[in-house]
Amino acid sequence: MVKLDMVSKRYRTGSGDVAALEEVSMQVTEGEFIVVRGPSGSGKTTLLLVTGGMLRVSSGSVFVNGEDVYRLPEGQRARFRAENIGFVFQMFHLIPYLNVLENVLLPAGAGNRDRDRTVALELLERFRLSERASHKPSELSAGESQRTAIARAMFGRPRLILADEPTGNLDPENAEEVIKYLAEYHLEGGTVIVVTHGRVVDQYADRIMSLQNGRIVKEELR
Ligand SMILES: Nc1ncnc2c1ncn2[C@@H]1O[C@H](COP(=O)(O)OP(=O)(O)OP(=O)(O)O)[C@@H](O)[C@H]1O
Ligand SMILES: [Mg+2]
Repeated sequence: MVKLDMVSKRYRTGSGDVAALEEVSMQVTEGEFIVVRGPSGSGKTTLLLVTGGMLRVSSGSVFVNGEDVYRLPEGQRARFRAENIGFVFQMFHLIPYLNVLENVLLPAGAGNRDRDRTVALELLERFRLSERASHKPSELSAGESQRTAIARAMFGRPRLILADEPTGNLDPENAEEVIKYLAEYHLEGGTVIVVTHGRVVDQYADRIMSLQNGRIVKEELR
């Protein structure tokens, strides 16, 4: 499902290169639930961005569904991403001038409008957001914002969901709820990679990977 082969990522900065990932290799099987942990700056976000086809690697290869992601031309890569990968960002990344329903519909293509709307409304219902469908992100609580972001990531039923500290800004109850949604997605066959420091997730994880200085230093099988 996901394969990283000797992936390194260096960021260019004014004061020299920063090595964010160093020769990381890992494989994720379809349907696995992976937790990624590690100190701040260890490369967790970089790992997700690289895996999600959003940040070109400096060296090595990334395969998702057998596709060598960074060998695809830009346009094709964007389409591949939209069809296969759902991303949940730490800071929600909702579009401020679109309401909740429109944000969830964002990944929808030029397909069947009525069906897309039905699917989106069902997701809002499931995530207790129906009452907020026409509200803008600035009118939402943190928990509602994150549930909207998750609904958006799940909209197209991608095979892979990548979530970067999706509970970072939430109180324990909302955090637990978000983790449960990810766990449900996993139970329905989805592959999930989540960066989180919380412990609630441990009961669902198939594997816990620890990053340090851009390397996987520990891998716990559950
Ligand atoms: N756009 C960038 N330009 C330069 N350096 C960057 C950039 N993004 C990240 N870095 C550096 O790369 C390293 C890894 O960053 P990354 O964001 O992946 O860490 P992280 O594990 O997600 O940290 P956190 O827990 O704080 O979110 C850090 O040293 C960071 O300073
Ligand atoms: Mg991060």
